[in-house]
Amino acid sequence: MTTPTKKRRRILIGVGGGIAAYKVCSVIRHFTESGHDVRVVPTPAALEFVGKATFEALSGNPVSTTVFDDVDEVAHVRLGQGADLVIIAPATADLMARAAQGRADDLLTASLLTVRCPVLFVPAMHTEMWEHPATQANIATLREHGSTVMTPASGRLTATDSGRGRLPDPQEIALIGELLLDRADALPYDLAGVRVLISAGGTREPLDPVRYLGNHSSGKQGFALARAAAQRGASVTVVAGSTTDPGDPAGVHIVRISNAQELSEEMTKRAADADVVIMAAAVADFRPVAVADAKIKKGDQGPAPIELTTNPDILRGLVEARDDGRIPSETVIVGFAAETGDETGGVLDHGRAKLARKGCDLLVVNAVGDGKAFGTEDNTGWLLSAKGDETALPFGSKTLMSSRILDEVRQLVPDGPGA
Ligand code: CTP
Repeated sequence: MTTPTKKRRRILIGVGGGIAAYKVCSVIRHFTESGHDVRVVPTPAALEFVGKATFEALSGNPVSTTVFDDVDEVAHVRLGQGADLVIIAPATADLMARAAQGRADDLLTASLLTVRCPVLFVPAMHTEMWEHPATQANIATLREHGSTVMTPASGRLTATDSGRGRLPDPQEIALIGELLLDRADALPYDLAGVRVLISAGGTREPLDPVRYLGNHSSGKQGFALARAAAQRGASVTVVAGSTTDPGDPAGVHIVRISNAQELSEEMTKRAADADVVIMAAAVADFRPVAVADAKIKKGDQGPAPIELTTNPDILRGLVEARDDGRIPSETVIVGFAAETGDETGGVLDHGRAKLARKGCDLLVVNAVGDGKAFGTEDNTGWLLSAKGDETALPFGSKTLMSSRILDEVRQLVPDGPGA
């Protein structure tokens, strides 16, 4: 999970008094191992769950809960003014209520009033507490104040309960934190009520019960888009093929498929109820004509040739469905193109031709080959629009690239700023 980062930044990690406090130890470790200067400020209640010694050992810095320690250093002002990023996890209902009101009754909440950097609240609580109108009103206030409040995951809660309110995976908290360090305004809450459908990963075209034709897609770009869209308030479904540990994004509905035909069926069916459809999957262009019922034996004759047939072009099919009214005309459709230059043209030339051929609204063009794009954490490319705009997507994490893609998508959604 840890990737060494370019620049040492000052991270303030505020820990609330909830059972999920123990998971925050992994987040602290991520940022210290990435070379950042981490200061942990727990609430007094947090120390009922995890001891001060653990936070001091993991961060390599002293830990206090009160403004009355080291009074001469005016800790709350020094900590708040000096921070490049604040992460509050777990953000309990009580801690968010106090922060929303601007209370300053411990070192953490006092420090929150002095920070001017991005602040990320990562809620964790029981579903009823999360859904309570008071909690939702406090979250709305925190967002109005410019903070990012993460969507919690669904799953196992304390005791035998399960539901919405679980702390997202530490890996996901770290990814979102890194994103806000890269780009403070990456996650405006501007996709609330927008339904986003994303395909991700690779397809596997079966040959027999044990073999398939596949590709190297990791699913990381599609999952990063899902993660960023969900944190901007969208209701997100991912139809995912084969992936290599992209981590399930919090608050996202994931549907698993295996081959291109299944992907086509799911996307076509679900696109009718989506405002935005993004085809980030690496779809196999061909599949074996016949799938053997039993494992194909080596035999004495050597390998038999595999006859292939062409898979449906799902992206093109979605554009056609929009053209002939099977899906709403306002649906925004986004494609991806993984390209290498060749004797007929460069990466961008191929991208422009593909945009025209597919007929989608936006096309994200990635240069591939030489270890670029597939399976990597970082990406670069261009965003081409049907209107003729071309935007360079600077090198950065797939989550950062996703935030820039979603900025353009937002402009095209019917009530969006550029629509
Ligand atoms: N795509 C699709 N269905 C396919 C193949 C691709 O929907 N059968 C989608 C991909 O998800 C991507 C876009 O089309 O959004 C471009 O995929 P790419 O593989 O680059 O394009 P192809 O149409 O396969 O063209 P070529 O391989 O000839 O470059």
